Amino acid sequence: MLSNEMIEKLNEQITHEFYSSYLYRQMAAWFAEQNLTVLQEYFTTHAAEEEMHATKLIDYVLKAGGHVKLGAIAAPSDTFSSPLDVMTKTLEHERGVTRKIHELMAQAEKDRDYSTRSYLQWYIDEQVEEEATFGELLALTRMAGDHLLLLEERIEKRAAKRGVATE
Ligand code: FEO
Repeated sequence: MLSNEMIEKLNEQITHEFYSSYLYRQMAAWFAEQNLTVLQEYFTTHAAEEEMHATKLIDYVLKAGGHVKLGAIAAPSDTFSSPLDVMTKTLEHERGVTRKIHELMAQAEKDRDYSTRSYLQWYIDEQVEEEATFGELLALTRMAGDHLLLLEERIEKRAAKRGVATE
C-alpha cells in the first residue's frame, strides 16, 4: 500500500519524466535548427524514452492502487549557445533526476514499502546508464571541438555499435 507521501512523490516524478521528454524535444528542435540531424534524431529518441519512464510510473501507481495526478510541465529553455552547452545541461539534468530517484527510494525505505522499493530499482539502474551515456557524449563533444560533423559521425557509429536507433 502506498503512503500519501509516496503517491505525491511518484506523481511529481511522473511530471518530471514528462518534463525530461519535453526538454529533450526542445534540444532536438535546436539541433535541427543547426542542421545537426544525427543529434536531432538522438535527442528525439531519448525524448521518447523519457515518456516511457513516465508511463511506466503511471502504470505502477495505478497497479498499486494510487491516484495519478499529472502536474504542470514547465517550459524548458529554448536557447543554447553550442552543442557543448546542450550536453553540459543534459548531464546536469540527469544528475538531478538521479537525486530525485534516490529521494523516492529513501521514501520507500522510510515507509518500509518493499514493492515500490523493488520497482524503483529499475530507475536506479537506468540512471547509472543515463549518466554514463550523457557523460560520454559530453566528452565526445569536448573532443570534437568545432568539428561538429565528426561529432555526429561518432555518435552515429556509437549508436549503431550498441544497436541504438538514433531516429
Ligand atoms: Fe528518465 Fe533520463 O531519466
